[in-house]
Formats: sequence, C-alpha cells, structure tokens
Amino acid sequence: MMPMPSPAPEAVLFDAYGTLFDVYSVALAAEQLFPGQGQALATLWRDKQIDYTRLCSMSGRYRPFWDLTRAGLRFAALQRDITLTAEAEDRLMNQYRHLSAFPENRVVLQGLRERGVRAGILSNGDPEMLAVAIKSAGLADLIDPVLSAHSVRRFKTDPAVYTLGTEALGLPAKKILFVSSNGWDAIGASWFGYTTLWVNRAGAPLEQLDTEPTRIGRSLRDVLNFFPTTTSDNRPA
Ligand code: LAC
Repeated sequence: MMPMPSPAPEAVLFDAYGTLFDVYSVALAAEQLFPGQGQALATLWRDKQIDYTRLCSMSGRYRPFWDLTRAGLRFAALQRDITLTAEAEDRLMNQYRHLSAFPENRVVLQGLRERGVRAGILSNGDPEMLAVAIKSAGLADLIDPVLSAHSVRRFKTDPAVYTLGTEALGLPAKKILFVSSNGWDAIGASWFGYTTLWVNRAGAPLEQLDTEPTRIGRSLRDVLNFFPTTTSDNRPA
C-alpha cells in the first residue's frame, strides 16, 4: 500500500533566532572587541544561551530570553578568559538586539503572502526582543502572528510552547509548516506533530534521535517548495 500523502500545510510558523535572524552576525562585533576570539565567542554564547533555556525551563525557573542571552554571554566570556567590561557587554547585547536578517527572508515571506499563506513566528525570544528584531529587519508587515514562549514561561522544546502555534492559528499541527534552522527545534516540532522543514544552513548532522523533519533544506527559499504555484515555481531552475 502507498503511504497516505501528508496534508498540504495551510500556514507557516518560523523560528526566529538562527532561522530569520543570524545569531552569528554578532561575531563581527565580538571580533572587533576581542581580536581572534569573535567566532568562538559567538558560538559559545549561542550554545550557552540555549543551554540556559533548557536548564531554566526544566527546573521551572523561567527567565526571559533576553536575560538568558546576557547570562550566556557572561559565561562564554569567562570560559574564553575574556574580561567583559560593562561597555563591551552592552555593545554586544545591543548588537544582539539588532541581529542581521537573512537576505532571502523578504522574498520568501512575500512569496507566502502572494500565495495567501499566513506566516508567523514562534520563538523563545521575549516579545520585546522579537518586536525590535522584526522591526529592524523591516518585516513587520509580513509576519503575523508573533508568538513568544514568554506567555507560557517555558522554552522549546516544551510542548506548551509549540501549542501556542496550533492555538493561535486554529489548525492541527500537521497543517502548519514549522520552519527552523536549529536541528533540535525541528525535531521537537516534529515530535509535537508539526510538518517541519529544517533549514540546515550549516550542513550540520541530523540529530540522532530516530526522528527526521518532514524535509531538510539549505535555504529559507525551500519553504516555497511546500506551496508550488502552477506557473513560475514549477519551472526548472
Ligand atoms: C528561537 C530560538 C530557539 O527563536 O532560536 O526560538
């Protein structure tokens, strides 16, 4: 018997950090402040930030993503033997507030708009951080809804966070395409039941947890393949 084809998604939810906004764009500012250490600091900072979301979420000690981002930076600096002055910390945190957006974001979001597909964000970021990032990337008119883990005081991959998407859109998880560049987030969302696209920009290995995202891509443009139009999208590239 042929397997049943999956239902076509009817809406899209994007992860924010790493997916729409480049969390490693802080490496440049970090490199200027601490020559030779920028990339390593940015990587460690991101890892520790996510580590802290899990630690706080699992222990019922929620703190907003912004606070955990600062805590992650402080830890990363200590680990790298970097003296982080208050000024350097403020500069890097300010950089984080205005992360670069990936260049293809706009065309993908516009493509979804043209196809009549609703596109929102479901993120660990707190509402203020998200609002600033969305505004500075000039994407405010193309994203709705913006859903933050802050409202449930838990972080991904807690199902309470993924539930925000199904509740807000009034759709079953399978009918929502959840898009993330974070492999672990794509797996958490798949476990929850979303149709998922892992945008594996870094060519990272698949999480070895016996689950695969619905599809794996290399750029956000792969989102549009879920919603072909009868004309231009079907033409060979
Ligand atoms: C987010 C983090 C996981 O935006 O990147 O939810």
